[in-house]
Amino acid sequence: MTQLKWNHALSVGVRILDQQHGVLLDTLNQLSVGIAGGAPANEVRELIERLVDYTQRHFQSEEALMEQYGFPGRLEHQAEHQRLLAQIVDAARAMQLGEPVHLRTMVGYVRQWFVTHTEGIDRVLGEWLNQQGVE
Ligand SMILES: [Fe+2]
Ligand SMILES: [Fe+2]
Repeated sequence: MTQLKWNHALSVGVRILDQQHGVLLDTLNQLSVGIAGGAPANEVRELIERLVDYTQRHFQSEEALMEQYGFPGRLEHQAEHQRLLAQIVDAARAMQLGEPVHLRTMVGYVRQWFVTHTEGIDRVLGEWLNQQGVE
């Protein structure tokens, strides 16, 4: 799996969100490298837990901003967050229980989701926030 690189299309124009997206991208890359390099299960499990934890915190930040500024697409955006979170929480739980998890498929899905979501509806949110004076 190639590394995801930060590029202009991923910027949503709000500093705190760009920073958080950068950390998520780094975590996803570490996970891809770990899986491709055959990292031990406990290391992979730790990375997935970090991904779950940080994703949750990032979603909370976005959702707090949506609420604070009355973003019109809030419910639809939150539903997309919930769907992704459910996928990675399931994978993390399965790994904890020692059940087989197809990691490459899971990480591939999350990476694709991350790029599409960030360049899509996160960008719409960023533009809205810019209009409210948040940068
Ligand atoms: Fe985001
Ligand atoms: Fe989002």
